[in-house]
Amino acid sequence: MGAAIEAVGLTKRFGDFTAVDHVSFTVEEGEIFGFLGPNGAGKTTTINMLITLMRPTEGTARVAGHDVVAEPDRVRERISVVFQDPTLDRRLTGWENLWIHGRLYGIPGDELAERIERAARFTEIERWLHVTVDRYSGGMMRRLEIARALLYEADVIFLDEPTVGLDPQTRAKIWEYVRALRREGLTIFLTTHYMDEAERLCDRVAIIDHGRIVAMGTVDELRSIVGGEVVYVAVDPPGEAERLAEAIRREGLGSEVRALNGTVSISTENAAQAIPAVVSLASSLGVGVREVRYRTPDLEDVFLHVTGRSLRDEEASFFDHVRMRRMARMRRAGR
Ligand SMILES: Nc1ncnc2c1ncn2[C@@H]1O[C@H](COP(=O)(O)OP(=O)(O)O)[C@@H](O)[C@H]1O
Ligand SMILES: [Mg+2]
Repeated sequence: MGAAIEAVGLTKRFGDFTAVDHVSFTVEEGEIFGFLGPNGAGKTTTINMLITLMRPTEGTARVAGHDVVAEPDRVRERISVVFQDPTLDRRLTGWENLWIHGRLYGIPGDELAERIERAARFTEIERWLHVTVDRYSGGMMRRLEIARALLYEADVIFLDEPTVGLDPQTRAKIWEYVRALRREGLTIFLTTHYMDEAERLCDRVAIIDHGRIVAMGTVDELRSIVGGEVVYVAVDPPGEAERLAEAIRREGLGSEVRALNGTVSISTENAAQAIPAVVSLASSLGVGVREVRYRTPDLEDVFLHVTGRSLRDEEASFFDHVRMRRMARMRRAGR
């Protein structure tokens, strides 16, 4: 079969707005591949093209060996999808949701009952199967949706922001299920705006911003784009960050120097050497130093490095908050 997913120049325009802009990537069989990017980056639109719900404006993609435009039915036979927003019927029990879905997919009754049992065991929702979904927590609904995606034997599973708004324990559980699926040989394509999720879960990550892939590789490969270590210097007053950053660049004290929100970040091969030099430079400029920290770069640093912006968690959690409230409202309304 070759690659599980192969996208070449995949593009989606809505009118004159380009939501996905010539993305090319390959996902190998048995890999957990992550699309990491902020809200509006084009993650869901990419998934929609890969799962044959949306026709690409340009470019091509093959999923499980089949072209998404020429052979959509063949693609659909090989994939499972967990959508970003829950698509469960809240008036029905978990079991009923699974049963209806399985019957729609033509799974014979005897076999379906068995598969429901297996999927429910895998996602640890057995005890909740006969409760109506309007009484489920967000995490329970996610598990039920994953169970639903496991009713038929797909080669590739798509998970669109699988852990948005979930508590840390539930997120860890979902990561565990995803890893278990990989062990069974499935290929997993997931999107996320959570750095830690991409970092801990994915074999390879594509960072997507404004519809473009701006960096791609294993987490270690992405880290190495930034360099060995990142030093953060919080200055006082915050408005002086840019002036200090400029002086650091002039003195060549770091390979990549940025000022953001009153903090200067400096990429360096040797933090132990850079820190005293930067502090003494700040003091000679009369810029106060409030705090100095350093660490090996994470994906947030990589994102900052390749986009010049921060993949801001505040913004993301604001959207999560809105979404969770909307879900709670829908649950209450019994929709
Ligand atoms: N059907 C549509 N019509 C017009 N614009 C759309 C449509 N779907 C998505 N967009 C826009 O495309 C961009 C990418 O959206 P999306 O793929 O949902 O991003 P993400 O999933 O990364 O948050 C956003 O600016 C969004 O508003
Ligand atoms: Mg999305």
